[in-house]
Amino acid sequence: MFNKRIKVKELLALEPNNQEVTVMGWVRSFRNNQFIALNDGSTNNNIQIVAELGRFDEDILKRITTSASLKVSGVIVSSLGKGQKMDLKATSIEILGDSDAEKYPIQLRNRPTLEYLREVAHFRFRTNTFGAVFRVRHSLAFSVHKFFNDKGFVYMHTPIITASDAEGAGEMFRVTTLPFENPPKTEDGSINFKEDFFGRNTNLTVSGQLEGELAATAFGDIYTFGPTFRAENSNTARHLAEFWMIEPEMAFCDLEDNANLAEEFIKYIIKYAMDNNREDLEFLAQRLADEEKQLPQDKRSEMSLIEKLEFVLNNNFERLTYTEAIDILKESNHNKKKKFQYPVTGWGMDLQSEHERYLVEKHFKKPVILTNYPKEIKAFYMRQNDDGKTVAAMDILAPGIGEIVGGSQREERLDKLEQRMKEMNVPADQLWWYLDTRRFGTVPHAGFGLGFERMVQFVTGMNNIRDVIAFPRTPKSAEF
Ligand code: 4AD
Ligand code: MG
Repeated sequence: MFNKRIKVKELLALEPNNQEVTVMGWVRSFRNNQFIALNDGSTNNNIQIVAELGRFDEDILKRITTSASLKVSGVIVSSLGKGQKMDLKATSIEILGDSDAEKYPIQLRNRPTLEYLREVAHFRFRTNTFGAVFRVRHSLAFSVHKFFNDKGFVYMHTPIITASDAEGAGEMFRVTTLPFENPPKTEDGSINFKEDFFGRNTNLTVSGQLEGELAATAFGDIYTFGPTFRAENSNTARHLAEFWMIEPEMAFCDLEDNANLAEEFIKYIIKYAMDNNREDLEFLAQRLADEEKQLPQDKRSEMSLIEKLEFVLNNNFERLTYTEAIDILKESNHNKKKKFQYPVTGWGMDLQSEHERYLVEKHFKKPVILTNYPKEIKAFYMRQNDDGKTVAAMDILAPGIGEIVGGSQREERLDKLEQRMKEMNVPADQLWWYLDTRRFGTVPHAGFGLGFERMVQFVTGMNNIRDVIAFPRTPKSAEF
């Protein structure tokens, strides 16, 4: 009977009064042949188990080693020792699984680095840092659903395998069952995808947006929350080849409504984590502060992690246009002193992450919503503004992260959309179904995509995106 166990988090909330309980978990440490720190993943706090001297056989005690799994029954009493409120006085200890402490790959006393822990990601959940990160990640995911559900949005599962390139950026992983050697060829010598599994060329989705738009033009408000894939060869601390994205799409919605929703959404999920994961966030704040002690003073964060999150909750995001942002960057001392790696050449340039981070971290010191970008640097589906130069795009930039949200009002006018697709060589015949929504009851609509891992990074203060997803997929890396 395993369901008789009490989780350590619940146990630690009790007032100790000789209650009989059974706990199960993994050994964090065993001191003086007597004190076991047991963790079961429900919290970073361990339950201290006291195995009274003489009560247990030596061959059981020998097997209480780091990361061995145990079932322990006993009674809870007020702790005599400092540092914990209760002890579990063991009456029985059962070893569920042995662990050879010498061979166990994580030796906490050696202070393993985050880089090393990525190599043993199958066990890194058993550390305090990753315990906290993944419990916070869970809460954020849960709060995403809660936020949209409470607003009456319908959760859509958009396809993972598609035949279209939603972003038109060509960064797709192909999906095929054709043989590498001797694939079927057409008369002109190219590969004949008609013989492939789906009878056409298919890939993993880069975004669920286009299908999301189809649903929004029936349900009004929808959102997706699923994995997306990008074969961009970006080896940075902000890019994954497989990441999770949340994409709400709203009919009867313009760019301003869209920005309002995005800001409300981001604040809501941060607040949810603050209210439900306080202990883990405080642990992560301390971790970050310790890590930053190694940096020179001017490289350290001005605010603690908790202060930063509170600041974001309590202040409006700064809103400005791309054009205004370019002026700020051009006039900045940073630019005049040629401190940008990519010089600010002027209107029309794509912003590099150093420019985005300058705006949020140095200039405004808060999240920024940038709108109305040049149409040349944005996707085909964005609504064209009357100036003929810009589109109704918005990016949200966050301190320490850069771009966290990308979105736009969509082009709902058939003629304008078709003309833009032609200019950008987007195959209109393959997207006939997308264009149909503009033919039958088209409406102004808008939406955005939040990169979930970047959001988890922002809330947990983890520097590298590889440390907020369980098993990261990045260039040349797909272990586990
Ligand atoms: O700006 P992006 O490319 O926008 C879209 O995909 C739109 N279809 C969204 C929409 O309007 N429905 O991506 C959205 C967000 C980015 O702002 C970023 O946070 C995240 O997805 N993102 C990545 N996160 C991790 N690794 C990558 N390689 C990412 N690429 C984008
Ligand atoms: Mg973007």
